[in-house]
Amino acid sequence: MTGDGAVLALSGVSKTFRQGRRTLAQRVRRAPDDRREVCAVDGVDLRVGAGEILGLVGPNGAGKSTTVRMMATLLEPTRGTVEVCGVDAVAEPGRARRHLGVVIGGERSVYWKLTGRENLEYFAALYHLPPRVIGARIDQVLRDTDLLDRAGDYAERYSTGMRQRLSLARALLQEPAVLLLDEPTSGLDPRSAAQLRERIARLREDGRSVLITTHNMEEADRLCDRIAVIDRGRVVRLGAPAELKRLVEADQVARVRLRVGRSTADGELVSAVGAFATVADKRADGADVDLVLHLPPGTDLLPRLVEVAQRHDAVVHKVDIEPVTLQDVFLSVTGPGAERAG
Ligand SMILES: Nc1ncnc2c1ncn2[C@@H]1O[C@H](COP(=O)(O)OP(=O)(O)OP(=O)(O)O)[C@@H](O)[C@H]1O
Ligand SMILES: [Mg+2]
Repeated sequence: MTGDGAVLALSGVSKTFRQGRRTLAQRVRRAPDDRREVCAVDGVDLRVGAGEILGLVGPNGAGKSTTVRMMATLLEPTRGTVEVCGVDAVAEPGRARRHLGVVIGGERSVYWKLTGRENLEYFAALYHLPPRVIGARIDQVLRDTDLLDRAGDYAERYSTGMRQRLSLARALLQEPAVLLLDEPTSGLDPRSAAQLRERIARLREDGRSVLITTHNMEEADRLCDRIAVIDRGRVVRLGAPAELKRLVEADQVARVRLRVGRSTADGELVSAVGAFATVADKRADGADVDLVLHLPPGTDLLPRLVEVAQRHDAVVHKVDIEPVTLQDVFLSVTGPGAERAG
């Protein structure tokens, strides 16, 4: 553990990738390497305390998975240090891994031709668990992930959700102090996702720490003690969900759909709306213009909206007024995903 009680600590962590392809012919010819260098993670500092759930959210390509892979010792940082329970994870990845349980999407983390239980027996041996604890531990993690009754079935016959749970069971085998979960609920039905969230919340009660990435803002809000918003490889905001919501300078958020006429100039319509509310997001689809508006306290939205719509040959089709959500924070502090921004 570090001086401030953090079980996971990243300091100034960066990762640069070379993108593009260098062919064998180019290598043989010793042609100059013209691959583009891309900084996927750019000086990230993060600390996760004991018993804390930290969420990592951000647009596609922001660098979340790359950060998780560096924490998991699967990828070496270009710069910076990663410490897991006081162990330097770059210098001693093997020792650091003993404190880690990792669930990474897309990783072939279960063997399809083995049963659920055989998978766990295999990994228990790989992790050097003492033979006398293996049987009881496997039963425990199967029970924790609701897989006990299907433990004798081949993993290839599992559904996506069951495979995801088996990955979690595997990650729990070593009773790790820190769990790293990269989008653990993606692909799960709403009930399974809720059950997994409950399980994750229970881990915190046992004093485990969890770092989780997700695109589900409601999930991040409900589950996480603190959330780091990451954009283009940098942590752009960090705080408890309530603190982050206070960053949006509005009491309420309105989601508005305006149906525009042929003579409407979208730009003028939106700037007229901008006179009494902050336009946080705008999407046009045919005749529909969808706006997310941040409303300063006391805004009398409806009459003003109707008046502006009438003036610009548009009708107000739908208005939902809600308290500020984490999604509003996300939209206001991040840019478009790296893939879209190019
Ligand atoms: N092995 C690699 N080689 C080259 N570039 C990579 C590699 N892995 C990731 N990248 C690039 O690094 C950037 C960050 O990717 P990363 O997977 O960390 O994003 P992410 O935040 O997890 O996105 P998503 O929400 O889509 O999962 C992207 O531009 C990606 O193309
Ligand atoms: Mg990712």
